Amino acid sequence: MPARLIYDHETRDAKSAAAGPGSPGDLMNMDTLVSLSKRRGFVFQSSEIYGGTGSVWDYGPLGVELKNNIKRVWWRDFVQSRADMVGIDASILMHPMVWKASGHLEHFTDPMVDCRECKHRFRADHVDALPWTHYCPATKGNKFTIPAGEPCGHCGQRRSLCPQCGKGELTEPRQFNLMFKTFMGPVEEDAAVTYLRPETAQAMFVNFDNVLQSMRLKLPFGIAQAGRSFRNEITPGNFIFRTREFEQMEIEFFVNPNDRVDGRPADEYWHDRWIKDCVAWFRRYGLTDANLRLREHEKDELAHYAKRTVDIEYKFPIGWSELMGIANRTDFDLKQHAKWSGKSLTYFDEERKEHVVPYVVEPAAGVDRALLAFMVDAYREEEVRGEKRVVLKFHPELAPLKVAVLPLLKKRDDIVRTAHAIRADLAKRWRVVYDDTAAIGRLYRRQDEVGTPYCVTVDVQTVGDSERGETGDQKVTIRDRDSMEQIRVPIAELATVFRDLLDGAAWSEASARYPAPRA
Ligand code: GAP
Repeated sequence: MPARLIYDHETRDAKSAAAGPGSPGDLMNMDTLVSLSKRRGFVFQSSEIYGGTGSVWDYGPLGVELKNNIKRVWWRDFVQSRADMVGIDASILMHPMVWKASGHLEHFTDPMVDCRECKHRFRADHVDALPWTHYCPATKGNKFTIPAGEPCGHCGQRRSLCPQCGKGELTEPRQFNLMFKTFMGPVEEDAAVTYLRPETAQAMFVNFDNVLQSMRLKLPFGIAQAGRSFRNEITPGNFIFRTREFEQMEIEFFVNPNDRVDGRPADEYWHDRWIKDCVAWFRRYGLTDANLRLREHEKDELAHYAKRTVDIEYKFPIGWSELMGIANRTDFDLKQHAKWSGKSLTYFDEERKEHVVPYVVEPAAGVDRALLAFMVDAYREEEVRGEKRVVLKFHPELAPLKVAVLPLLKKRDDIVRTAHAIRADLAKRWRVVYDDTAAIGRLYRRQDEVGTPYCVTVDVQTVGDSERGETGDQKVTIRDRDSMEQIRVPIAELATVFRDLLDGAAWSEASARYPAPRA
């Protein structure tokens, strides 16, 4: 089914046309991303010195800041600032019955096929989307790699064998459960089997009554959680897009199925409302309209619990793919857990004097995929005075480092001392670094490449020259990453200026208040 575009077409098309070739997202391919991520401390391969672990990744010093910032703004915008939301932080290991009741033991499977020759394993529904190896009989058995879905240009054959080795037959599809199994306690026996959670969602359902009673909530309300999930994916890959250990930010938003909002059933109204709010959230933190679209799940692709699901897709370097899903899970989960636990999971509707099982709308986002999308969209290559400038134009709230303090001359003790003191002062509120390991032009480029929105430079004018009896002006230069403009600001006012800028004030407001440095 063709994806339904979400925005007013004229606005979207005009914006993407204006962006032109090389617009956000177009420049970053996976190789560039993986190499930048490693070189600049965003993401490393897990256990790399031992050859790496299959499809798990470690976040480095800048990656962890970026990831924490994503989770922090998500929590602030969807939990802290809303009167109808609360949060939890549940255990990864849950009672094994949870997965029986939720349907994961039965349904959380992917069809898998194996090559009888090279033993490579594929997701059956992914095989046709892979380029395939072919030994062409029309060219004396020459080996070709043919694009996914296309026939051989010489002999006209279509793929029938293993796409990887081009020789082996594939087995019939078998269902493979994606949950990681482990044992609780010291004995490895069937009675001790448990699972690493494959989604954070179930904890919100099994804690529904605890949260309802302890917080005295009224429908509609939501429970949110951000945390790790684990899936033994058959074909993980594409860097941090599909991994076996990842983080989710999920909301279960409970509504009264008997209510109507704006003339519509409450669950349907809230489903659409959450889709809109989630798209707006991604746009607010920097994803470009042209790189976002909605995809409605077909009836036959809906999860066993869903009445309707809409994915927000992003134009990743691998093509349009799911960034998050927003499902209407109806009362499936609460009913299932009530049935299997024997506990009532209902809400007393005071108005109608009846117990109801709430419906649930579930906005489910992946932290790692959000991070990937924000990096891809932020990446720009610009030409500045004949040189290439690579810059990550992160939203200031997401940027791993907020400010870099740079001494213009590292041989001058007074300049270095002042720069360290400024860093220490600003670092009480924000992640701020000091760097004196190169000339100023190179230091700026380094900060651009990791998306630091502001640099502060301490120079001779700041501290003066005591040998000549000159006192400094106690002012420093702030450089804006995006415009590369500079302003001269008293040290005493730095914290206030950054509080405004990092709280969302436009650079033009600061540059209207402070002069540019003398040339
Ligand atoms: N509770 C519903 C649920 O888990 P999902 O669509 O399977 O729904 C939600 O997962 C989001 O979690 C996805 O949109 C994606 O961003 C992220 N996600 C799922 N599997 C992932 C994986 N193997 N690696 C990285 N992120 C994943």
